[in-house]
Amino acid sequence: MRFPEDVPVLTDGVVTLRAHTIDDVEPAYRMCQDPVMQQWTTIPVPYLHEHAVNFLTEMIPNGWRTNTMWGWAIEYDGRYAGTIDLGDGEGGVGEVGFAVSPEVRGHGVMTRALKLAVRYAFDGLGWERVIWRAFVGNYASRRVAWKAGFRGLVTIPGGGRARGVRKDEWVASVGRDDDLEPQGNWWTVPVLEGGSIRLRGLRDSDAQRVQEACSDERTQHWLSGMPSPYRLEDAEGFIKTRLHMMAGGEGVAWAIADPATDELLGNVSVFNLNNRMDATVGEIGYWMHPDARGRKVMTSAVELLIPHAFKPVAEGGLGRRRLMVKAALGNSASAHVAEANGFTHVGTERAAIPRRDGNYDDDLVFDLLADEYAGR
Ligand SMILES: CC(C)(COP(=O)(O)OP(=O)(O)OC[C@H]1O[C@@H](n2cnc3c(N)ncnc32)[C@H](O)[C@@H]1OP(=O)(O)O)[C@@H](O)C(=O)NCCC(=O)NCCS
Repeated sequence: MRFPEDVPVLTDGVVTLRAHTIDDVEPAYRMCQDPVMQQWTTIPVPYLHEHAVNFLTEMIPNGWRTNTMWGWAIEYDGRYAGTIDLGDGEGGVGEVGFAVSPEVRGHGVMTRALKLAVRYAFDGLGWERVIWRAFVGNYASRRVAWKAGFRGLVTIPGGGRARGVRKDEWVASVGRDDDLEPQGNWWTVPVLEGGSIRLRGLRDSDAQRVQEACSDERTQHWLSGMPSPYRLEDAEGFIKTRLHMMAGGEGVAWAIADPATDELLGNVSVFNLNNRMDATVGEIGYWMHPDARGRKVMTSAVELLIPHAFKPVAEGGLGRRRLMVKAALGNSASAHVAEANGFTHVGTERAAIPRRDGNYDDDLVFDLLADEYAGR
């Protein structure tokens, strides 16, 4: 192909992909000074003016000429807003990379640009599959990929590389016959208040309290899957992986906080939301910091989240039909939280919960149905 004559102009009426011009060098250079850009991409750091000149006037034009890379300027609101490129494509499979300037982020620009480029990969280049890769933790990029229909996300430890350093990587893809629409749910954490508590998302600053709560003897006894000893880095990892759980549609986790001080008192979550057999069920799990126990805080926390769990997804809820709580035989405080919230003990799974001493506890199963809850 000739550059720029043969570069197709792609537009959805709001965002336009077009060939780069020399005028894009300055805004592209400025975009690459952004620390977020440097953190999540493989651009050189420090990023010099000559890097932008080389990328836009050599690499991208040569990519088109040699049929190895197809890069466009993203135009939005009459200006250069970023760059998107497709690369490889051998055997009908290639990769996409993208970035937009900080001032236009959060307006859906990248999602639109990505859909245009992916459509071109299938219809213009005849590809079968487009692969997206991002360093673990780049939720903005992951969300763009999710909104554009990328699916099957996996994490590859050390799969990525930036400036000579290996990094954990997420990989997902979309195929030629797939809808370019989100697959599965990406849950958010609404703030729920009432009963003298606040449920909110977990924050990095909660790590110390999480560590204290999870190192506690009773927590360690009843939740035998928890690391032991439970270190601060376990707490930090727990907080980080809650985002991953929500983005993957598996569950939602709240910090139970004191509304006056915002200090973490405990944790409550609804999980197993991706059950393949029945995606209308959910299980509630919880633990309390020892200094907040015995004040009915967990009973109030579960009471606050039940209506959210039963509310339809279209109204911002979790769309559940049936909620479960499981409590090991003997964990009467946990069973009490379920019963106080109107759950019914429906059975006991025998020898179902491993203990640290190698034995197994029976597991009491409680459930609550959306229609019985609505009928109260
Ligand atoms: C990733 C990037 C291209 C997104 O561009 P954008 O124009 O803001 O994308 P969109 O507006 O289409 O969508 C971004 C979505 O991510 C969400 N988002 C942003 N930061 C987030 C975060 N930390 N956690 C969760 N979601 C986040 C936004 O709310 C938005 O979703 P919404 O529309 O449902 O509210 C931009 O952040 C960027 O250029 N980052 C630096 C370069 C980069 O990371 N490139 C990708 C490398 S793999």
